[in-house]
Amino acid sequence: MKENKFGKKGWTPERIKNIKGKTFLITGANAGAGFQASKILLKKGAQVVMLNRNPTKSAKAIQQLKSELGADIKVSFIKMDLSDLASVRNAAKDIIEKVPVIDALICNAAIAQVPTQQFTSDGFESQLGVNHYGHFVLISLLFEKIENEGKRIVVVGSEGYKMGIKTFQFDDMNWDKNYHPMNTYCHSKLAQIIFSYELQNRIDAADKKTKVYVCHPGASATSLIKTSGGLRDRVIWSIVSKTPLVQSAEKGAYPEVMCATEENLKQKAYYGPTGRMQWTGPVGECKIEPFVWNRELAAKLWSVSEEATNEKFTI
Ligand SMILES: NC(=O)c1ccc[n+]([C@@H]2O[C@H](COP(=O)([O-])OP(=O)(O)OC[C@H]3O[C@@H](n4cnc5c(N)ncnc54)[C@H](OP(=O)(O)O)[C@@H]3O)[C@@H](O)[C@H]2O)c1
Repeated sequence: MKENKFGKKGWTPERIKNIKGKTFLITGANAGAGFQASKILLKKGAQVVMLNRNPTKSAKAIQQLKSELGADIKVSFIKMDLSDLASVRNAAKDIIEKVPVIDALICNAAIAQVPTQQFTSDGFESQLGVNHYGHFVLISLLFEKIENEGKRIVVVGSEGYKMGIKTFQFDDMNWDKNYHPMNTYCHSKLAQIIFSYELQNRIDAADKKTKVYVCHPGASATSLIKTSGGLRDRVIWSIVSKTPLVQSAEKGAYPEVMCATEENLKQKAYYGPTGRMQWTGPVGECKIEPFVWNRELAAKLWSVSEEATNEKFTI
């Protein structure tokens, strides 16, 4: 493991410099790591725009943040359901109209280990549809704005990227033949990671300014499995999440907040907890498996994503 450039404790929010007046967009910000990331950023005086699917949960989350941090915090909500590309497109339009500057777009929302094959409104296997295709369209639609402002995009991946088939099932992206809750989740997180590195590569090749960062929260006690996982996985997770193998949701938010705020962070890297199995521990640069650098695979994923979503994403 490389030496942690942030010291023994790793990156912590104490490192955040002045972010007063900066605006952070976070998908899936009403729960888990996204909620905790919102709290950290708001505490430091930034503005957070939550991109959530559920207005009731969002209102409750905002109320909780206001009661903890004060009524004058700058937090708002735009409805966006990543499982419905029309909703993503409407939200992107809203964002372009209402948000003057995006300092960072944090692609945090996800579902995981959905027990049976489900489909999004557009007919995609639900985990690939929400986690990758939804964010692919959102990033594409906001890219010009983010690029004009010279800012950054943060993509929250998962150590699951290396636990599945380690490639893409291009002949059956919906997993009609072999649906498996975990392999399919891993497939979607690998897609997010490989897409993000390809995005960095294309930005560099086009001599553009946007910075893209990839991170993961390790193993964190959030509502991820409770919300979308099956009964067996929920029971296992509720036990494991009470052990030292799993850290708090707040710690799980550090990598995404670091990627959204830290200056001079190396790109084409992978950030998260660096301790045991990269599940917990000081936040810094993590090890990543070399198969994520396969640009042929990335290019194919990009064109398959464009075709599936009907979204031409040219850098
Ligand atoms: N927790 C872990 O150990 C772990 C490990 C590896 C990676 N991750 C990654 O960490 C990120 C954060 O997850 P978390 O653990 O904090 O999970 P979480 O507590 O379940 O939070 C996920 C958020 O995503 C939102 N979301 C789900 N489907 C959505 C959709 N269709 N449209 C818009 N928002 C949607 C959820 O909204 P609702 O509240 O409405 O459901 C929630 O706000 C994810 O990218 C996940 O893959 C987590």
